Amino acid sequence: MWWRDGVIYQIYPRSFQDANGDGVGDLAGITSRLPYLADIGVAAIWISPIYPSPMADFGYDVADHAAVDPLFGTLADFDALVTAAHDLGLKVILDFVPNHTSERHPWFLEALNSPQSSTRDWYIFRDPAPDGGPPNNWLSEFGGSAWARDPVSGQYYYHAFLPEQPDLNWRNPAVVGAMHDVMRFWFKRGVDGLRIDALLHVMKDAAFPDNPPDPDFREGMNPYRRLLPLYSCDTAEVHGVIAGMRRVAEEFPDRLLIGEAYLPFDRLAAYYGREGGGVHLPFNFALIQAPWTARALDDLIARYEASLPEGAWPNWVLSNHDRPRIAGRVGPDQARVAAMLLLTLRGTPTLYYGDEIGMAQVEVPPERVMDPWEKRVPGLGLGRDGARTPMQWDGGPFAGFSTVEPWLPLADDFTEVNVQVEKAGPFSMLTLTRSLLALRRSRAALARGSYRSLGAQGGLLAYLRETEGERLLVALNLGGDPLALALPDGGPKGEVLLSTFCDREGEAVNGALALRANEGVVVALG
Ligand code: NOJ
Repeated sequence: MWWRDGVIYQIYPRSFQDANGDGVGDLAGITSRLPYLADIGVAAIWISPIYPSPMADFGYDVADHAAVDPLFGTLADFDALVTAAHDLGLKVILDFVPNHTSERHPWFLEALNSPQSSTRDWYIFRDPAPDGGPPNNWLSEFGGSAWARDPVSGQYYYHAFLPEQPDLNWRNPAVVGAMHDVMRFWFKRGVDGLRIDALLHVMKDAAFPDNPPDPDFREGMNPYRRLLPLYSCDTAEVHGVIAGMRRVAEEFPDRLLIGEAYLPFDRLAAYYGREGGGVHLPFNFALIQAPWTARALDDLIARYEASLPEGAWPNWVLSNHDRPRIAGRVGPDQARVAAMLLLTLRGTPTLYYGDEIGMAQVEVPPERVMDPWEKRVPGLGLGRDGARTPMQWDGGPFAGFSTVEPWLPLADDFTEVNVQVEKAGPFSMLTLTRSLLALRRSRAALARGSYRSLGAQGGLLAYLRETEGERLLVALNLGGDPLALALPDGGPKGEVLLSTFCDREGEAVNGALALRANEGVVVALG
């Protein structure tokens, strides 16, 4: 299956390539850059939402699930993108946003007309509490109550995210049918997979009980964490909705479903479903949240591997459009080690655009903040703009992203950190990423092999990836001091396939392996 062996590359469409000179990326821009993606060696692209949207949440507020926003182009542009991608051997994965629509979606506009409207029950309207306030204490992920008052009827509607993103009612068979048809619409257009947004939220407890307080909440934390979302998220009934989506995906050959689910491993495992009824890949975000120490990483990999149900295929994510970039979290030196980790673990990696060149987390000045989350809950570091800045293609005006000032500021270092410069650099981050991707394609042990931890010691994290004919050692120095390790199982010999510094290929290893500060290596064991 293509999604087991290959690497997925996430594109945030507003920030990848602007082809029409309006400062915002678009589909034609993505298409023009597909040869680059084929060349670096990823297998698939996942594009964040491109649907008509008022852009209250930059596309995650969808006003029509089966069309393209003019800002990004047309359906014809989309078809051209799919054709070009397939010609290059690239799969195309789209974002699918089933939990909510835009407040300007025709279904919601109709629902607002009156409590008797034909689509009123497509959303979640409730009478006020006896004191006239919201029906219960549920919180919006983006701050404040999750209920907004409809002044016409006096009822409240539920929004897990912005008030501009009313939640759909997945208990209503008409909603289920309409959203299944949306999936078919894109699959018929040749889309190879869907990344399902906010999957945990799709089914709420039918009785709408108050959520209990989270005893671990402290002031200064994300205020959404004040409550444990026991009744609003990750309910047992979510799995029935997923099973329905999976049945639709199965109507088409070889389609992939990825689920967005920020959950501890024991709960995440359930999203693989029983008897094939779940998503193929419930996103594993553990690396995004992990403390960057060898011991913590070794432990989380072990716990994740142990949590996987039989037949489940693992996956790993290091950055995305919602969290600070890896280079911002661990620094540029460790970002190289992180790339080696992501691309040598067992399972499908998702690579976030720009991470392959070491793009930084950008400090966005207050007057340029775009993210509605930062605007509603300021000052806690929740804002997502810094991870969504324009792709740095070259050192020219606007980094080759656009011909005009982009919608978000560029990183200051774009004249050095960019595709053009790094392509020519034998030791660049881009060269490292390409080499890792090439190694993954050429070495079955990396793509398919088993994973065995050799443990964590101080700054060292080491593991084996093995198939019948091949044994690879991955040794990562997570610290700033050099260190050495003995080759495992008394294996006396090995050959360095790749160092994160890109300068040791072919080096023979006898008995012991020395690692420089912030160095990772992949060694073929003899
Ligand atoms: C998760 C998406 O990744 C995020 O960007 C979005 O704001 C929310 N879901 C709401 O759709």
